[in-house]
Amino acid sequence: MKKQYQLLVEHAQKAKTFSLSPYSHFRVGAALLTTDGKIFSGTNIENSSYSLTICAERTALFKAISEGENKFSAIAIATDQNEFISPCGACRQVIMDLAGNIDVVLSNNNGKSKVLKASTLIPFAFGDKNLKRSKK
Ligand code: THU
Repeated sequence: MKKQYQLLVEHAQKAKTFSLSPYSHFRVGAALLTTDGKIFSGTNIENSSYSLTICAERTALFKAISEGENKFSAIAIATDQNEFISPCGACRQVIMDLAGNIDVVLSNNNGKSKVLKASTLIPFAFGDKNLKRSKK
């Protein structure tokens, strides 16, 4: 794996330590790499009204976009699990829509990583192209 991706995983692991997950106790960290090398991290933030919870991946993406970033190359995800955890369906859509077909770096708790393309996680994704096509 690229050295840069190892660093990205480390940022995701650090973000995980800020997880606000009193209901699930499932800590997730994400770190997003911009094409010019900046890293934006995020964690999952749960809410007592459960459905208002936001995942780590979307936190990282929304942070980056709200600071003017719009070109991304990869996102890393870290949890406390021994298995590789991949983004939920909602996050797959948001990653593909806002970041495009970037590398998704899954990591487990034993120091192993796996790199997948976003399009592998969400094939035949809905996107802005579909909205443009429906314009009259
Ligand atoms: N979660 C994430 O942050 N990212 C994912 O890709 C999967 C799920 C969070 C949401 C919730 O706080 C907890 O993990 C359990 O679902």
